[in-house]
Amino acid sequence: MTQEAISITKATTKKEKPASDQLVFGRTFTDHMFILDYEEEKGWFDPRIVPYQPISLDPATMVLHYGQTVFEGMKAYLTDQGDVNLFRPEKNMERLNRSNERMCIPSIDEEFALEAIKQLVKVDKDWIPSAPGTSLYIRPFIISTQPYLGVAPSKRYKFMVILSPVGAYYKEGINPIKIAVENEFVRAVKGGTGEAKTAGNYASSLKAQKTVAEKGYAQVLWLDGLEKKYVEEVGSMNVFFKIDGEIVTPELNGSILEGVTRNSVLQLLKYWNIPVSQRKISIEEVYQAYKAGKLEEAFGSGTAAVISPIGQLAWKDETVTINNGKTGEIAKRLYDTLTGIQYGVKEDPFNWIS
Ligand code: COI
Repeated sequence: MTQEAISITKATTKKEKPASDQLVFGRTFTDHMFILDYEEEKGWFDPRIVPYQPISLDPATMVLHYGQTVFEGMKAYLTDQGDVNLFRPEKNMERLNRSNERMCIPSIDEEFALEAIKQLVKVDKDWIPSAPGTSLYIRPFIISTQPYLGVAPSKRYKFMVILSPVGAYYKEGINPIKIAVENEFVRAVKGGTGEAKTAGNYASSLKAQKTVAEKGYAQVLWLDGLEKKYVEEVGSMNVFFKIDGEIVTPELNGSILEGVTRNSVLQLLKYWNIPVSQRKISIEEVYQAYKAGKLEEAFGSGTAAVISPIGQLAWKDETVTINNGKTGEIAKRLYDTLTGIQYGVKEDPFNWIS
């Protein structure tokens, strides 16, 4: 792994920044990016921060054909004091390497990658928006770059980091979203790549999302790939239910992505002495809880949306309205606490900020 110093080439012209209160998720990119190359004989080399720019790829580049690629999503928050907060970034670097392992991509030096991200964020610090709920989304990703059409792990890669000032992920913000239970398509199967943050998982989710969007739903609730019985994720988020006072989330089973926000939610709930369990939960159990008046809340968790309450679940011909379609108490408390820690206005009992 490279121990080379990171070279910095500053952009000579700066782009116009969008108004902080009009940001759309993932549309605008900052003035700089980070690049690190890999060749089998050399390992990772030439770390550099350069002006944000297109990259040129041979049409035979492997990532374009077989999707050998991984990515991460994290955020930098500006505090009222003008400091920059990162939220548990080492967890993202650990997961990046777990995804690398699954996708046969060489591992990166986690500390070095994090240092590169910090330097890049520093260079583009004036891009971090300050309006409430906004942040600088950080997208580290690795693509296979060898021009070759054989189906095999690539011998060359590029690790890049780009930055995007963002507002709320869902236009609803912390307001509840409408979700359709997906009965036809599946996101991932055991033994597949569901646990890795890799492009194919997101590509294969599009059809279901497109279909339900046409009917007015924000996302789908994914069921397991074998029996289509057990709940897995909601859209690109982990999912939680409050049933009769207990919070339940599907246990990690190889096809569910281990979210950093999911992990943080579990820690906070334990810290607050709220009963919580990670276990298999079937959609039938969720429905029966609703019928019995015991389905008290449901919400998704992820870096992009933080906490996203679910106000309504459509399952077959049934419409399950949760908490009268309003944001639940636990979802609100988690949202306020997580964002409070992220923006440095709430105590950080677990030292999550760096
Ligand atoms: C997240 O919730 O952070 C995600 O995974 C969404 C991202 C792919 C935009």
